[in-house]
Amino acid sequence: MTERKLTIDFEEYTSAAEMEPQDRALVERATHALAGSYSPYSRFRVGAALLLENGTVVIGSNQENNSYPAGLCAERTAMFAAGANYPGVAFDTLAIVASHEGKILEDPATPCGICRQVMAEYQTKGGKPLKVILAGSRKIYKFSRVDDLLPLIFDSLKA
Ligand code: THU
Repeated sequence: MTERKLTIDFEEYTSAAEMEPQDRALVERATHALAGSYSPYSRFRVGAALLLENGTVVIGSNQENNSYPAGLCAERTAMFAAGANYPGVAFDTLAIVASHEGKILEDPATPCGICRQVMAEYQTKGGKPLKVILAGSRKIYKFSRVDDLLPLIFDSLKA
């Protein structure tokens, strides 16, 4: 038996002002995307902004439904819209922001497992690392690839 450890790497910023202008702009787009959230059940808004390698930004927000499982997370709303509208264009960076009762969360909201799996597959499809920014009002995390959010990614195509 060999004991192994996995480490994950990410950057932490105390405000968007510390970030590169392109990342800061993407966090702003994700913040604006909060307005499109349809979340009467959870009252938890999530906004996502996805920068494609061609410079296009596709936004998404969580969309809920009275039939609860029918709802969709902000991240997947953005990724599926980008996949459908810009087939063949790789994803570069995904920024995510969340608010509750009108207040942006202080700590970054971290994406659900299903969204991480979807990010992983689009990263593979795009053939380059997909960066992920999780922005809170007090702290911002930046991951340089999805692998750091989803270690040991499932990928049956790799086999
Ligand atoms: N939600 C997202 O949009 N992204 C996530 O990664 C986790 C959760 C949404 C789903 C639901 O509309 C609300 O947040 C509360 O769970």
